[in-house]
Amino acid sequence: MTPVYMDYNATTPVASEVASEMLPYITEYFGNPSSGHIYGAKTKDAVIRGRQQVADLLGCLPKEIVFTSGGSEADNLALKGIVYANKNPNGHIITSQIEHPAILNTCKSLEQQGYQVTYLPVDHTGTINPEDVRKAVTKDTVLITIMHANNEVGTIQSLSQIGEIAREQNICFHTDAAQSVGKIPTRVDELKVDLLTLAGHKFYGPKGIGALYVRSGINIEPLICGASQEGGLRAGTENVAGIVGLGKACQLAVQEMEQRVTEMTELGRLFYQLLAKGIPGVVLNGHPENKLPNTWNISFQGINAAELLAVVPEVAASTGSACHHGSQTLSPVLAAMGIEKERGMSSIRFSLGCETNREQVLHAAEIIIARVKNILGKEG
Ligand SMILES: Cc1ncc(COP(=O)(O)O)c(C=O)c1O
Repeated sequence: MTPVYMDYNATTPVASEVASEMLPYITEYFGNPSSGHIYGAKTKDAVIRGRQQVADLLGCLPKEIVFTSGGSEADNLALKGIVYANKNPNGHIITSQIEHPAILNTCKSLEQQGYQVTYLPVDHTGTINPEDVRKAVTKDTVLITIMHANNEVGTIQSLSQIGEIAREQNICFHTDAAQSVGKIPTRVDELKVDLLTLAGHKFYGPKGIGALYVRSGINIEPLICGASQEGGLRAGTENVAGIVGLGKACQLAVQEMEQRVTEMTELGRLFYQLLAKGIPGVVLNGHPENKLPNTWNISFQGINAAELLAVVPEVAASTGSACHHGSQTLSPVLAAMGIEKERGMSSIRFSLGCETNREQVLHAAEIIIARVKNILGKEG
């Protein structure tokens, strides 16, 4: 059996339907969508279609979609775009301690430019209290940015409640939904967001393409200047094949959403229950219910996660800890949740996807249980 892939939150394979839709735009249709002739018309139509498909998934207007090179660029565009457009040298952002580096490091860069940032704490489940958002608002707050679902533990935030607060206070509200789009419903009106980030490669689209939803009437400053593509918000000849692929991935997400949620929940639960039954001291990190159905962040008492993964090459998953120059540090997300170092260092993120099946889950659980017992037996 080939290694069981359980790292879908890192990236997903491209769905076969997505790849076949993209192929003619790599081999045959090469025109520049801005060209006035027939070659351009063909790719322009493809971009229009892709934009509509993304809009259909988010429940927004096609003109509210700005294509980017991925999630990181969309996050940068949202944060810097809003802050720069506001022209307030004391501009203030509210975010959380558990955001992806694409948000946290953009905030750090803005702080170096003199702007202010509040990093809100989370509770032990990784949940932000919406009232903390309200309390953090100042007269200079120009943006609230809170991720929809966390990439490491999967905890889902109460965006609509935070969105209410943002609206009451007349503050822009962005969410990094790179991990939730395609996995759970992400309609912008239900979430009450003004800006939303998504990344194609997290839900069976290609790498190097993403989008930022920008609600009509919200003013942002472009980061890449040039010609007038993407409504003047992101210059550069369009990544047509990428847009076609992203559009198709969105269409599949609309069609398969219910089935994906049901399957991921069932397979994920089975996997966790097998591990919990087979190994003493197994703990689930993150919110037990209010979480992405595919994401299972699990601590193995008395085990170092990196060492465990090294002896389980049959399973491809990732640790919650970052390894810097050989020394392992506790994941900032787990640290923010108040998880003590030993438990944090024993945590592995298993993220399931559309190609995960029951056989793989049983196989992965069996191998992990055997190797953990082996390690504990040797140490004990
Ligand atoms: C929550 C979140 N935001 C942003 C990103 C960055 O996306 P990309 O790799 O497409 O730039 C990721 C990718 O890991 C993510 O999980």
